[in-house]
Amino acid sequence: MLVLGLETSCDETGVALYDSERGLLAEALFSQIDLHRVYGGVVPELASRDHVKRMLPLIRQVLGEAGVEATQIEAIAYTSGPGLVGALLVGASCAQALAFAWGIPAVGVHHMEGHLLAPMLEEQPPAFPFVALLVSGGHTQLVRVDGIGRYQLLGESVDDAAGEAFDKTAKLMGLNYPGGPEIARLAESGTPGRFTFPRPMTDRPGLDFSFSGLKTFTLNTWQQCRDAGDASEQTRADVSLAFQEAVVDTLTIKCKRALKQTGLNSLVIAGGVSANQALRRSLEHMLAGLKGKVFYARPRFCTDNGAMIAYAGCQRLLAGQHEGPEIKVQARWPMEHLPAI
Ligand code: KG4
Ligand code: ZN
Repeated sequence: MLVLGLETSCDETGVALYDSERGLLAEALFSQIDLHRVYGGVVPELASRDHVKRMLPLIRQVLGEAGVEATQIEAIAYTSGPGLVGALLVGASCAQALAFAWGIPAVGVHHMEGHLLAPMLEEQPPAFPFVALLVSGGHTQLVRVDGIGRYQLLGESVDDAAGEAFDKTAKLMGLNYPGGPEIARLAESGTPGRFTFPRPMTDRPGLDFSFSGLKTFTLNTWQQCRDAGDASEQTRADVSLAFQEAVVDTLTIKCKRALKQTGLNSLVIAGGVSANQALRRSLEHMLAGLKGKVFYARPRFCTDNGAMIAYAGCQRLLAGQHEGPEIKVQARWPMEHLPAI
């Protein structure tokens, strides 16, 4: 089945063509980062307007690259939540209009299920069951995954998501949006051991996370340095390293706990923060001790993209699922509410 996938949940317009027999044929992405950077974060109305501008040219580009005619497309998958409602509506309207015009089915995809399944596009995909750590700008969740749509939430953030913590921490140190890649880059030249930050909620049982206290701790440290007349690039790098180490360590401790609790030794990491090299190294080291394996997507498919939506939608379409003609999106949408296939 040849599926066109559209992603517009936040600040990236993603389009891809996935074929259940031949795999990923083409994909294209337009990132709005430059548009939002001056505001220090995503401006929803600007995001929606830009998706409108980018969508059709990107679809034409992907069709051209794949050498596919519009008439060959058999179904359309689009992100129908969670995300920014206006941005989601652009993808949903476009998908439903094209599906109606072409007389083919359309299916709404859960954005986090898209992330979760992105490692399936790699050469060595994970096999069910596994534990998934979903770490994006909006979510931090540990999930037991027994199949597509068979999700058991094991723990989640009680406040900021991991990516959000990276972004907010970066902002308060005067770094650009999005902060995750900026902090990761600075951390590379940080001095190990100069600062040590707390590992929140690791000293008590359970699999929930909290990152907002760590953000405040980082701000206080940064302000103390600045007040003492040291706002140097090196200090910024040292604070970035301490912050990243604390997040990575916390995530690793909770992943280990989740694997122990479920008796599994296969871990999938997905979402923007799964592109973080320090996190990958730490989890690989931990899993090596358990004789297990970590799976993740190539960096381009860790952050928002159309390929993951085309893939996830294709699996649901093959199972016979699709939407009616109505244009429906959901800003909030627990992943456990998805039907199993
Ligand atoms: O999955 P994603 O593209 O969008 C959402 O669904 O939220 O994730 C974006 C998040 C941002 O918070 C960004 O700062 C973070 O992922 N991120 C990273 C890295 N690359 C992206 N965080 C840490 N290290 C990275 N290398
Ligand atoms: Zn995302």
